[in-house]
Parts: sequence; C-alpha cells; structure tokens
Amino acid sequence: MGHTVIFQPSGRRGIVEAGKNLLEAARELGVDIESPCGGSKVCGKCKVKIEEGFFEKFGIESRMSSLSPTMEEEKDELEKQELENNYRLACCAEVQGNILVFVPEESRGAQQVILETGREREISVDPAVRNFYIEMVPATLHDQTDDFVRIKNALEEKYGLKDIEYIDYPVVVNLPETIRSANWKVTVSIWKGCEIIKVSSGLVENPWGIAIDVGSTTVAAYLCNLRTGESPVKKSMMNPQITYGEDVLSRITYTMMNEDGLEKMSRAIIGGINSLVKGITEEAGLTPEDIIDMVLVGNTAMHHLLLAIDPKYVGRAPFAPALKCGIDFKARDLGININKNSYVHWLPIEAGFVGADNVSVLIAEEPYNQDKMMLVIDIGTNGEIVFGNREKLFSTSCATGPALEGAQIAFGMRAAPGAIEWVKIDPETKEPQFKVIGQNDWYKEGDEPLAKGICGSGIIDVIAEMFKAGVIEKSGRINQKIDSPRIRKKADGKMEYVLCYAHQTSIGKDITVTQGDVRAVQLAKAALYCGAEYLIEKRGMEKPDQIVLAGAFGSYINKESAMVMGMIPDCDLDNVQAVGNAAGDGAKLALLSMQKRREAETVARFVEFIETATEPDFQPRFAEAMAFPHRSHLFPSIQHILDKIPK
Ligand code: FES
Repeated sequence: MGHTVIFQPSGRRGIVEAGKNLLEAARELGVDIESPCGGSKVCGKCKVKIEEGFFEKFGIESRMSSLSPTMEEEKDELEKQELENNYRLACCAEVQGNILVFVPEESRGAQQVILETGREREISVDPAVRNFYIEMVPATLHDQTDDFVRIKNALEEKYGLKDIEYIDYPVVVNLPETIRSANWKVTVSIWKGCEIIKVSSGLVENPWGIAIDVGSTTVAAYLCNLRTGESPVKKSMMNPQITYGEDVLSRITYTMMNEDGLEKMSRAIIGGINSLVKGITEEAGLTPEDIIDMVLVGNTAMHHLLLAIDPKYVGRAPFAPALKCGIDFKARDLGININKNSYVHWLPIEAGFVGADNVSVLIAEEPYNQDKMMLVIDIGTNGEIVFGNREKLFSTSCATGPALEGAQIAFGMRAAPGAIEWVKIDPETKEPQFKVIGQNDWYKEGDEPLAKGICGSGIIDVIAEMFKAGVIEKSGRINQKIDSPRIRKKADGKMEYVLCYAHQTSIGKDITVTQGDVRAVQLAKAALYCGAEYLIEKRGMEKPDQIVLAGAFGSYINKESAMVMGMIPDCDLDNVQAVGNAAGDGAKLALLSMQKRREAETVARFVEFIETATEPDFQPRFAEAMAFPHRSHLFPSIQHILDKIPK
C-alpha cells in the first residue's frame, strides 16, 4: 500500500510504499537531502519540517500522525523547539499516510554555494572525494566475508555504490584494526567513486580539502569544506623559491647551472605548501591528516619545478612541457603532508608558460560562456592575458616581473598587515593619504603607526596618484621642479617621493617611492598593455566590451588607477571589474566540483596561445606603452581625469 508524499519547495511528489522512511522517499523522488551518515540516525543533518493541515492544491490531508512515532535518536539530535515545530529526521520518520514535507535550506543536498570571492560564483558541490558513513554487521564464524568486500557490500547496499575497485595499500594495512576498534562503524573516503583512500573510525561529517595557487611570487592556500563548499580559512606566503630567482626564467636557469638546483627548488615549494597546510589546519582545529583532497594551480614552470620535472625544455623553443593534461598524483609521492593516500590534482596546462593558473582564471571567469568580448588580465610575476568570447579565445603571457606583487620595489611587501594598500595624493599640496592593511580607515596623525611597506594594490595606486598629481611626468620621470618636501633627491642623486614619514611607520624610517620603483612598474604595465593590444587586434576588435582584472593582491586593485597608468586599454570603467585572486578562486572551484575539472580540460584545449613578445614590432609598441598612460593611444573613458593633471 502506498501514500502520497510531496516535498517542498521542489514540489516533487509521488506514491511511496508504506514503511519507507522520508530519506528513502526523497531518494526515490529525486529530492536531495543532506545525509552525511547515510541514514544511520547519527548525524542529525536530514532535518525536515512536516506541514500539517488540508492542502487543497495538492488534495491531501497531512498530519504528524501520518508518520511513525518520534525516535530517541531524534530527541537527541533535534532542539526542543524544533520538536515542537514538527521537525523530524527524514531517516527516522516512516511514511504511514499522506504527507507534505518541507526541506529547509540547510538540509538540501548538493547545495548551491556562493563562494566568497571577488564575484559571486554559484556552483553545485560535487567534489572528487566524498565521505560515506557505514555500519557493518561484524564478521562471524558463519560469515567470514573479508573486510574489503564487507565495506563494498555496505556501500552498495546503503548508497548504491557499485564501482569501487581499488583500496590504497596503506588503508588495507590498517583496515582490520580500524574497523574493529570502531565497532564496525566507519566513514569511508572515496576518490572519484572508485578508490578507497581513507577509512576513519565513526562518523566524519566534514571532508576537507585545500586549493593552492602556486604563484611565482605569492602562494595562496584556501581550506574548503568538501560537503558544504565553505572556505573558512585562507593563508598566503611568499614563494620560498624566490631565493633562487625572482622570475621563472631565472629559476629555470638556476636548475641548469646547479646540479641539485631542481631538487632544492622542488623541496622549497613543497616545504612551503606543507607549512601552509600546517598553519591552515591548526587555525581550523584540524590536522593535516584530515585533508583528503588538494588542487594545485600554477604556471608551467611552477608545475615542473614543484613536480621536480626538468624545466629546461619549457624554457627554450619549442617550449613543450612534459605533460599538459590535468593529472593526479599521490600526496605521499610528492612529499605533501596531507592524508598520505590522497591525491593532489594539477589542473591542465595551456601552452608555453601559460599554465594551470590561467586555466583556473578561465574556469572562474568563464569568458567561454560570454557573447561580449572579454579581456581577462591576471597580474602576477608572469602576467597572463586572455581575450575573446564563446566563439574564440586567445591567450598570451608576458614577463611583468614581481613589482606589482610588491617585490623588487624599495619598500614593497606582500599583502599582509602593515602593508599600504590604498593611496590618494592631493594634486595641489602633493600630500598623500594612505590606508594600511589591519587598520579600518585611512591613516590619521595620532593613529598607531602600523605602515611597514607597500603591497601590489598600493603600488598601483601610488604610481597612478603620483601621475595624477603631476609628481611624475608622462615619461615616468619624477618632476624635480615641484617644490614639496615630499619630493627629494637621494644620496645617489636619484629622485624619490616620500609616502610616509618615519614617525608614521612601524619600521622607524620613511617609506618612499623611488624613480627605480616607477621604472619597474612602467615595465610591468607596458608588458601587460602590449599583450592585451596584440590579442585584441588578433581577434579583429578595437577595444574590449569588458575587462576583468585579477591577481593575488590583498585587496582589489583600483581599476581607475590601473587605467590611469595605462596598464589596461580604454573601456567604460563600469565594465571593468577587479576580482581579486581569480586563479585561487578557480582552484577552489576545481576542488569542489568535478564539472569544473572537466571544463578546465576543455577550455585548456579551446584557447589558442599567441606568442606576442616575438612579434617584429614588439619593441616600438612596448616603448610607446611605457608612457603614462600611453604615448599615443587615447583613453576617452578617463579623459576627464587626465584633463585635470597639473601641467
Ligand atoms: Fe544522518 Fe538522518 S541522515 S541522521
């Protein structure tokens, strides 16, 4: 005998056999309800609310009495108020009559999560590793089924999992002890539905993973809950390989000149990743063993250097990497200290130096789903640029150097507390205002002096503001004729601008912007501008419809400053968006979603790489782009700002 069961808000309905519980009914009707314990009545996550009354629209009378009586487990898991308000655990409540069930937001499975990133990105959580809780019948003299088959049978019976073929060796070694000491109640972590990579005692509700953007200068790591999609902790550090070279080419050269260079650099970055894992897990109250999946992205040189693959062929024509496809390696083979049986996934590489970091930006920004012509600029030590839309995408990379990430700048630093992140300069008095990471507002005399240096977003701001205030000329030279104590000559005869005086800093000395800093930024911004210019021309366009500015900055860079200094071509400022670390966001998406990993494989082959630095007219174009904002190109969108620059 069957009864009508209706689930809201999905509206799914059907006839369900009497005696089935609401979790089974939901599965039959295609309604996804959170059930980390798989219906074993121990997680308390499958809460539903029973609607009572006669529902004319559906033609049913729904009553609490249409379900089996409340069980002891429900009294433990549900609040008193919830029990009074007709809440039940779906796996405990058996259908005995017609019923209308409301599934509250927090109980809906495969949740759509909004990632907390530069822009709202909604995805369905569908990770490579999932946890399954099972309770097994203990082995007896009459049932001597082996432990592995017993686990497989329980997984098939409870979750319908039929494709488990492998169990990792270290898991087997500990299996008999683990399941017996857990009284045959365990959580099984399964990779891609086919391999058991961990068996833990009891119920482990939350599976955790870490996504890491391995930049040449900055390494950013994000802890993610593989069930809910939340990302509660992030940490970053300078890439420890920087000791061996500021940019990828000098690091490749180091491996060629030193016999143990490759090994040293691989060990340095793996050591850095392990310290990020340690710091993140400590902050979250976890252990590195709790991390059961990891995604890494980085440019092609970072990929080879981390994996200890000789990068010399990446650094010379025809620039062929060892492998381009997305790939999984065991964490233990790489020396990465997470659950040792887990895999570490590298997203696919595009071409040349354009690696998985750019693919990661693409799956975050999805220009391949747009009709409008989108220019995506990922600012890093190696700048990566993509232009196009769903019909065709071109990409290129350019050597920007680490200036825009705060390295090779007199007072540059990474985006950390104490870094100046925003700057304004009064065009009349040339007096600056600055905002430091760790302080809520712009610095005022009398505030605690926290400033230690300038991070990437601060460098872009201060150079643009110096230009707007007439402190630097179109050529980039600091104007010596200005009568201001802020503009002075150093002992070596070079000019500098004083951004903060010693008493306003925590380092006890003036923080300045030197003529050398301005030059380093000019080289970087000219490289980005030229790269974008070639791609736009190649696509037969004059300008982009929209621009996305990404980069591992502490805060979002000021898009007006980026355009004023000529880092990006002209575009309506309303259509320019600074999105923060899109490569990190893409890595998180790939950690949480197998669909995104598949998209990464497709887009890595769809985008066409263009080598722009070898174009015959590159040098003259580059020279023109060195000027602020450009020697000959016009910027109608910001002309009103350029018109106000003191002559
Ligand atoms: Fe875990 Fe119901 S599914 S308590």
